Amino acid sequence: MKKSILFIFSIVLLSYGTMMAQEYAGSEACKNCHSAQYNNWKQSGHPYKIQKILGGNPPSYPVLTAQKVVGTQVNYTLNSGVPSAPAGLTWGDIGFVVGGYHSNARFLDKEGYLMYGPNHQYNLSTKKWVPYTSGSLTKASYTYSCYKCHTTGASKTKTTEFNMYPGIEGSWAEAGIGCEGCHGPAKSHTSNISNKPPKEGLNSCNNCHARDRNEGTTTYTWDKRVEWQARTVGTISTGFIRHREQGDMLLASKHGKANFTCATCHDSHKGVYFNLGGVSAKCESCHPNKTIVGHEESKTMAKCTDCHMPFAARNGDQLTAYVSDQSAHYWKILTDPITMFDNIVTINNTATPPVGFKFIKQDANGISGVTLDYSCIQCHTTKDVAWASLKAKAMHSKPVSVAGTNDIPSAFGLSQNYPNPFNPTTTIKFALPKSSAVTLKVYSITGELINTIINANMNAGTHEVKFDGSNLATGVYVYRLEASEFAYARKMLLVK
Ligand code: HEC
Ligand code: HEC
Ligand code: HEC
Ligand code: HEC
Ligand code: HEC
Ligand code: HEC
Ligand code: HEC
Ligand code: HEC
Repeated sequence: MKKSILFIFSIVLLSYGTMMAQEYAGSEACKNCHSAQYNNWKQSGHPYKIQKILGGNPPSYPVLTAQKVVGTQVNYTLNSGVPSAPAGLTWGDIGFVVGGYHSNARFLDKEGYLMYGPNHQYNLSTKKWVPYTSGSLTKASYTYSCYKCHTTGASKTKTTEFNMYPGIEGSWAEAGIGCEGCHGPAKSHTSNISNKPPKEGLNSCNNCHARDRNEGTTTYTWDKRVEWQARTVGTISTGFIRHREQGDMLLASKHGKANFTCATCHDSHKGVYFNLGGVSAKCESCHPNKTIVGHEESKTMAKCTDCHMPFAARNGDQLTAYVSDQSAHYWKILTDPITMFDNIVTINNTATPPVGFKFIKQDANGISGVTLDYSCIQCHTTKDVAWASLKAKAMHSKPVSVAGTNDIPSAFGLSQNYPNPFNPTTTIKFALPKSSAVTLKVYSITGELINTIINANMNAGTHEVKFDGSNLATGVYVYRLEASEFAYARKMLLVK
């Protein structure tokens, strides 16, 4: 008898303990002890995922601006925040605003219903009001499957506080992604700091930044053939990678295969959109000394991310045919002369994904990449992927100073390439008696410019550079060096 009472008592204690452990304190409770993390987080997008509108006052955002420039095609000022409620409404008609920090804003009415309708989405990049989903006003329940990624402590169970919102399926502990959205419920930690928060935060990202994953696991709800594959086109006919697929893309990249997490590059507490320093690892720290052929004159012509992480994903609006508002997270550039539309597959499945859904192709190792229309044509709008393919293959072919020849040559010279004939790569060597502005170009036998291998100021010395002819047909090609007053050309033979 005694035993069973004790038994029941300990069950009660145990579940009480679990309840305690699962209680949320809210981000304000963390502010005083972790002010550095708090101040960074407060400027980032995470807290503004969803905001409650109080007393008809507008939602509040940190005042942030950034100039977004892509080549000569795109140049606009991004401002955080939403200028007003949708046309015909005041903030007094709105219960919650979803987003509005960097990409777009959507609205819940005072009963918590999601408003689909004309001019019910505000896009921050273009500063335009557009229809959200349908042309006429419809109210939809705000379901768990929607708010689970936009709130902290999302639950399908309604608390009394949420009874005033018939449109909201359940409840949440804190609007937006608070500290505990990544670290887990940490109330017990705030009263006794030796109770560490349940999660270190690192593995939380993909709960929200990947699609169609089974919650809290690494398995996907959908067909295994498309595991990790990013879906494209789908409901958006314009051919951008859908938003919130950073996790899927990372897994289909060499960085993912090398076990990178988001935090390898990101400071999880800092924002990215408004130059808040949220990217902590620079590309050059791991990939130093990249020559960028054709762009040597100025690094600002094209940054690593312009080509390797183009805005090929879309949340709000697109700015041009190949520029939208979110960066791809594949890094690899597919150098074949194909477009994104050539690089998608349709999966026909009777269950989910729905019949005819489209995914980005992966190679046999599960790696994919962005195509040249996004990487290059976004800036070189008058060119095509065939042009880009020729240039792209040799993008980082780097002239190197030849070891053991630090002596300054007495005359300019251009050596015969070796090997010759070649397939597909060959080395070209040349000598500079003084530092010079150098161009080394490859032409077809009829004089058409095929590739600019070097266009840079170079020091005196003996240099060599690799040329890659993978994209070219068998035949004779001419390579021509111009350096200061010197100009010389030679022939080489590609045999495939
Ligand atoms: C009373 C001060 C205090 C409050 C309030 C507080 N913390 Fe802490 N927190 C600490 C201290 C002290 C540490 C230990 C630092 C160390 O590892 O030496 C810590 C550690 C942490 C860690 C690192 C845990 C680990 O495994 O190393 C996280 C994450 C964290 N706190 C999150 C939070 C969150 C989220 C909140 C708000 C819900 C919060 N803290 C509130 C004082 C506080
Ligand atoms: C978007 C997810 C996310 C949010 C939101 C978040 N954190 Fe973290 N936090 C992390 C990750 C991930 C780490 C581990 C750091 C790493 O490995 O780079 C971390 C680390 C920490 C640490 C350990 C010390 C450090 O800075 O590395 C503390 C303390 C901490 N967070 C507190 C907080 C507090 C307080 C908040 C809210 C103001 C917060 N975090 C919000 C993801 C998050
Ligand atoms: C699987 C998680 C997930 C679900 C489910 C989800 N979102 Fe999001 N949402 C995100 C992430 C992550 C971002 C930001 C990063 C991105 O877009 O890649 C985002 C961005 C947004 C933004 C833009 C935010 C801003 O400040 O610009 C809006 C608006 C939005 N979502 C609305 C919704 C609505 C409405 C639903 C339900 C119909 C929904 N989301 C469902 C994860 C999710
Ligand atoms: C190899 C480094 C690297 C890794 C790993 C990485 N990111 Fe990024 N991420 C970046 C860089 C760099 C930017 C800024 C791109 C720019 O400025 O154009 C960025 C931007 C973003 C943005 C905001 C802007 C946008 O254009 O989409 C989000 C959201 C994001 N990353 C989420 C993630 C998540 C989630 C993960 C993990 C699944 C992740 N990133 C992994 C480097 C990385
Ligand atoms: C509970 C869902 C959730 C979790 C967990 C989460 N995010 Fe987010 N994240 C979002 C949503 C939603 C947005 C869009 C917010 C916005 O910018 O308005 C976002 C935006 C971002 C942005 C761009 C916003 C900015 O301020 O630049 C970055 C970068 C990012 N997340 C990285 C991460 C990383 C890294 C982790 C894991 C350590 C993580 N997120 C965990 C939901 C989440
Ligand atoms: C922490 C170190 C680190 C950082 C930071 C980093 N990388 Fe990498 N990168 C790697 C490693 C490791 C590999 C995989 C090498 C391999 O497997 O051959 C890789 C591979 C690549 C590849 C080859 C992809 C392929 O599939 O062929 C590209 C392109 C690349 N990185 C570009 C970038 C860019 C652009 C950035 C900055 C946004 C960046 N990396 C940041 C370490 C890094
Ligand atoms: C003008 C566009 C462009 C810019 C800017 C650019 N890259 Fe690349 N990069 C490419 C292309 C195209 C390839 C593919 C070459 C191939 O497959 O032969 C590539 C390949 C790579 C690779 C994998 C192959 C290799 O050579 O190691 C890495 C790593 C890489 N780039 C890093 C960088 C870094 C770091 C920066 C910034 C300093 C950068 N890239 C800037 C276009 C660019
Ligand atoms: C952010 C914009 C931007 C991106 C992205 C970009 N470029 Fe460029 N590129 C420029 C600018 C600006 C110049 C110099 C002006 C010019 O010649 O058009 C240039 C010049 C060149 C040149 C030398 C001039 C010529 O026409 O022969 C080549 C080759 C080139 N780019 C190839 C590429 C390739 C290949 C890619 C994709 C892998 C690429 N670029 C991506 C902006 C860009």
